[in-house]
Amino acid sequence: MNAISPLAAPSALDVLWFLPTGGDGRYLGARQGQRVSDNRYLRQVAEAADQLGYHGVLLPTGIGCEDALVTAASVAPFTDHLRFLVALRPGQTLPGEAARQFATLDRLTGGRVMVNVVCGGNPADLAGDGLTLGHDERYAQASDFLQIWRGLMAGEKVEFAGEYLSSRGGRLLFPPVQRPHPPLYFGGSSPAAHALAAAQADAYLTWGEPPAAVAEKIADVRARAAAHGRTLRYGIRLHLIVRETEGKAWDAARDLIRHLSDDTIATAQRKLSLESDSEGQRRMLALHGGSRERLEIAPNLWAGVGLVRGGAGTALVGDPETVAARIREYQVLGIDTVIASGYPHLDEAYRVAELLFPLLGVGRARAAEGGANLLAGGGSFSTTSDGFPPPAPSPVEARA
Ligand SMILES: Cc1cc2nc3c(=O)[nH]c(=O)nc-3n(C[C@H](O)[C@H](O)[C@H](O)COP(=O)(O)O)c2cc1C
Repeated sequence: MNAISPLAAPSALDVLWFLPTGGDGRYLGARQGQRVSDNRYLRQVAEAADQLGYHGVLLPTGIGCEDALVTAASVAPFTDHLRFLVALRPGQTLPGEAARQFATLDRLTGGRVMVNVVCGGNPADLAGDGLTLGHDERYAQASDFLQIWRGLMAGEKVEFAGEYLSSRGGRLLFPPVQRPHPPLYFGGSSPAAHALAAAQADAYLTWGEPPAAVAEKIADVRARAAAHGRTLRYGIRLHLIVRETEGKAWDAARDLIRHLSDDTIATAQRKLSLESDSEGQRRMLALHGGSRERLEIAPNLWAGVGLVRGGAGTALVGDPETVAARIREYQVLGIDTVIASGYPHLDEAYRVAELLFPLLGVGRARAAEGGANLLAGGGSFSTTSDGFPPPAPSPVEARA
């Protein structure tokens, strides 16, 4: 296997958004403001992310969400540039079939597929899918899986007899657009996860821990990768709560959890700690200990989301300059990819792009260009004193 990452030379920063395939809403843990993530809504989020210039969108896997690959295939035709970071659970699909699926999606999207290898952290859910391996065995199985998958994608005739998976003369006749294969992203915080990422992934992902903890994880994965003669890219998964002022941002953070009862928090915490064997999840829970009293666990890093949500449980909260500066702190550590989200995902995709993208130097800012063209070429409508067009008329007026 080659030791060179198939990823292009790192750009300054890739900012991805999240497709909420398990449902969306305005508040955590509340019925108020809930949104159904049907195909039309997911398409809206994908189209917005595409138009705003997000690098891609992450699609999760698990029993609490729609299938990642099928969802990506269903919204991709409505996008032009957006990449799809699609979760793939080794062992749930055999490597030959998974290679064909991802190669096909890569071909049909013109090379816009990225793969997030997910070994899973909920043994009961995994057993429901027929996967009964223990924690470290799942990584050993994933190692077999990736060796076969990568060989097939690279056009090799694969002869592989692993402890868990094998291929006898496996071939892929319709290769992916991206060679040797779409980039492999990988998250997990246990030693077994770090070892596998170092040996076979192209990018390592961490949930949003404080900078010092992220630095330690990167150092460990980097050292392990160096032992294989490899280098990886590094990404962080965070929620973002960005508003024009610090005060408004912290108000929005409090607002997000305003309907959460102490009972709901306690039930969610118990469930997350009992049901998960994930080291990453354990680290997320330890950040706040289930208490809403000490949620700012590092400057501007707020753990409120993790009171009830499994997985990514932290948000950067602040005004645009502050949040951009916090992201830069992670960049200095080696992070070159931010996978962001915010509730609700359609509205917040716009807010983050409008407030943060200009400071991060990313995105296409097409909406702003459209507004500028309108102003430059128009003249038939009045502007407000700050130079922007007046608000759109109400639907009733618009009909007249
Ligand atoms: C950015 C990121 C995204 C993840 N997405 C998923 C997912 O969609 N589904 C899932 O079951 N686990 C997901 N995970 C969890 C990990 O893949 C991993 O299986 C889990 O944390 C257990 O690994 P650990 O014990 O090594 O930490 C994700 C992790 C990270 C860092």
